[in-house]
Parts: sequence; C-alpha cells; structure tokens
Amino acid sequence: MKLGFIGAGEMGGSMIRGFFKAGLSKQNLFVSVRSAESAQKLSSEWGIRVSNDNVHVMQEAQYLFLAVKPSQMSAVLQELVQNGVAPKPIISMALGWTIEKIQQVVPNWPVVRIMPNTPLAIGKGVTLFEFSKEVSDSCKKDLLHLFEAVGCTAEVPGNIFDVATALSGSGPAFVYAFIDALAKAASSQGMDPKTATLLAVQTVIGAAYMVKQESISPAALAQKVSTPGGCTAAGMEVLMQSDFAQIISRVIEATAHKAAVVSKNM
Ligand SMILES: NC(=O)c1ccc[n+]([C@@H]2O[C@H](COP(=O)([O-])OP(=O)(O)OC[C@H]3O[C@@H](n4cnc5c(N)ncnc54)[C@H](OP(=O)(O)O)[C@@H]3O)[C@@H](O)[C@H]2O)c1
Repeated sequence: MKLGFIGAGEMGGSMIRGFFKAGLSKQNLFVSVRSAESAQKLSSEWGIRVSNDNVHVMQEAQYLFLAVKPSQMSAVLQELVQNGVAPKPIISMALGWTIEKIQQVVPNWPVVRIMPNTPLAIGKGVTLFEFSKEVSDSCKKDLLHLFEAVGCTAEVPGNIFDVATALSGSGPAFVYAFIDALAKAASSQGMDPKTATLLAVQTVIGAAYMVKQESISPAALAQKVSTPGGCTAAGMEVLMQSDFAQIISRVIEATAHKAAVVSKNM
C-alpha cells in the first residue's frame, strides 16, 4: 500500500507518526510539504525523503492523503487536475470539505472524507469515515485496517459528520480542559499542581477504561460509585445542579454548528 501525503503538519504529522509506530514501512510513504525548512526537518526526524514536489507524491501514491489546511485545499486539488494525475482515492481530512465539494473539482474520483483526532499519534485515536460511492471495497478495507492500527474507526453518514466531528475531532480539547479544571480545583485547595495534574490524568484514564470494559452505562457507573449521603454524592449533586450535561450539550452544539458554517462558507 503506497501512501502519499500532501502536508504533514499537526494532523498529517500525527498520523504519519502513528502509522510508523504501528509498523508502516517507510519505503511506502511519499510526503511533500510547502516549505524547504519543514521538508528538511521532517526528513531528518523520520529518516525518509520529504520533498516540496507535490506532483511526484500525487503520481506515486496509491492512496493520496490531503493534510493541508482547508484554505489550501482548492490549490492542491487544482494541482492534481492541472498535472493530469490519474484518478485515485483521495483521503481528505479538511474541515468543511464535503465529498460533493471535492468532487466538484475532481468529478467521479473516489473520495474518502475522514476526521481524525490527534491521539492517533500514540495509537489511541478516533477516525471518522465517509466514503463516496466510487470507493472500492478493497480501498475501504485497506483504509479501515490502516486506521484501526492507530485507534478506532467509525463510518458516519454525511448528515451527522459535523456532530461526530464535534465529539471526537474536537473532543480531546474538551477532555484536556476537564483535566485542567480538575487539577486546578485541587491545587487551589493546597495540592501541589504537578501531583494534582498527575492524579487528574490517571483518574480520567482509569474511569475511561472502566466505561469501556464494564457492560453498564457511564451514568449507571457514576451512580454506582456515589453512595447516598457520601462524599462523591455531595460532589455529584453540585455537578448536576450546575447543569453539567446541559453545558456539554451546548459545547457540542456550538462546535458542530461552527463546522456546518465552515462547510457552507468554504
Ligand atoms: N490539527 C488538528 O487537530 C486537526 C484535527 C482534525 C482535522 N484536521 C485537519 O487536518 C488538516 C491539516 O491541519 P493541520 O492542523 O495539520 O495544519 P498545519 O499544521 O498547518 O499543517 C499543514 C501542512 O500542509 C503543508 N502545506 C501547506 N500548503 C501546502 C501546499 N500547497 N502543498 C504542500 N503542502 C502544503 C504545510 O507545510 P509547511 O509546514 O511547509 O507550511 C504543513 O505541513 C486541515 O484540513 C484540518 O482541518 C486537523
């Protein structure tokens, strides 16, 4: 499987690092970026040739990943057309770029819209997928297999892509904010900030694993550890009275709305 990457910044770079950790052969990777400085830096970090030659990568790749900013997508897609690159599966992670919009530039090409999140760099990512009808079963199988090596995958219909993006694409930021709030709350009451952060992180990891492994819902698990009249119950009462669920609902709604607006204005 020859993978080509146009762009290898925050997201493309995380993805490539994750694939390397999962055992992807470096010989099967072709990468180009915009600046000579980035190319040189990534070449020495990864031990592969990273170039500024998009057309070479576009021609060599069996599966072509577009990992540039949404505002750079038009130029890169035009480059494909202007250089007469033969149709091949395009994998786009650009916020706001729907399959239809990409196919306006490359009609009838197989297009895969994905929404990854950065924890895939450490094998714990979530990647959302939407496939155009031109994408073959073997391509779907290859891509799902590739991303399952760096986390979990989910196929989502286009009409809920924005909500799913809010949950897993932006979700890590919300979890970081929660961890930060937990740690700051404890350190403001006298705990050493470093220890407070460590405890908050490990508590979130442990609780997430419990939810994954137990066959009961997270809400039921919360109830199970909140003995009536006990200290956890006292804290949960404040959480509920403060409309925690309502706040999170508004966070997801605002994020999904923004994704939809970006799509419309793209
Ligand atoms: N960051 C996230 O958490 C995240 C999450 C989900 C999806 N995404 C999506 O991932 C995509 C990339 O975002 P990012 O945060 O990784 O951006 P980024 O860090 O700015 O990286 C952009 C990359 O594209 C390269 N590039 C720009 N123009 C190019 C061109 N014309 N030809 C070749 N390479 C070019 C840049 O090279 P230079 O370094 O040389 O400029 C850089 O390697 C976006 O579409 C974004 O919506 C990001």
